[in-house]
Amino acid sequence: MIDLHTHVLPGVDDGSRSMKESLELLTMAADSGVEILVATPHCNIPDEFDNYVSPELEDLFRKLDEARKNAGIPIRLLRGMEIFATPELPQLLRDGKVWTLNGTKYFLMEFAFDEDPDYCSRILRRCRELGFWPIVAHPERYYFLQEDLQLAFEWCVEGYGLQLNKGSLLGRFGSAPQRTAELLLQHGLAACVASDAHNPKRRSTNMLDVRGLLLEEYGEAYMRLLLEENPKRILDGRALLGYEPIPFR
Ligand SMILES: [Fe+2]
Repeated sequence: MIDLHTHVLPGVDDGSRSMKESLELLTMAADSGVEILVATPHCNIPDEFDNYVSPELEDLFRKLDEARKNAGIPIRLLRGMEIFATPELPQLLRDGKVWTLNGTKYFLMEFAFDEDPDYCSRILRRCRELGFWPIVAHPERYYFLQEDLQLAFEWCVEGYGLQLNKGSLLGRFGSAPQRTAELLLQHGLAACVASDAHNPKRRSTNMLDVRGLLLEEYGEAYMRLLLEENPKRILDGRALLGYEPIPFR
């Protein structure tokens, strides 16, 4: 499996708090069958986390990968960010101030939970116009999307990738995100599923539970598309695969 969304870089956001915890998260991922994991620290959240590309961040990434090697954890660690959508986001991408997913045109972005959906669509379109390909982190958690599922259909048709959180599917964020995630899967609108891991206890890198759920409820081909094929395509900068998207009205 490939996990495209994790907060395993130590001490930079609300994810891992130490190198020890980061190694624990990487070990859990590898033990559950994850072969490639992308570190995606929060970035560009006003008054909270900056984490733009810098020598310090690069150094931290290298230190974690070095520690991983020394600990013999068999996993590939790659660069990414979970970039918060502000009006500056398109320019940040163009100026190379943020890490896209493994240096490809794909980038992981998030919105405020109560954002104006028209604003979201405008930012997505602007990024696309500049030649970048958005992957929207956990759409099922946004209130505006829970209330207007057709928006997810429109984004999918526009070619934006929708990344579901494993915790949503497992019911860890309540019934609305869970129900929304299920509907997105049933309508062929999800590109991939990732852990969005923050810590080894409540939001971990273990992907076995969600792999089992997807296998049982949606079958092997769909499970592999979400956990293996599309994440691989994203990291290689290739087009996403999917089922025919089904509209809501
Ligand atoms: Fe995240």
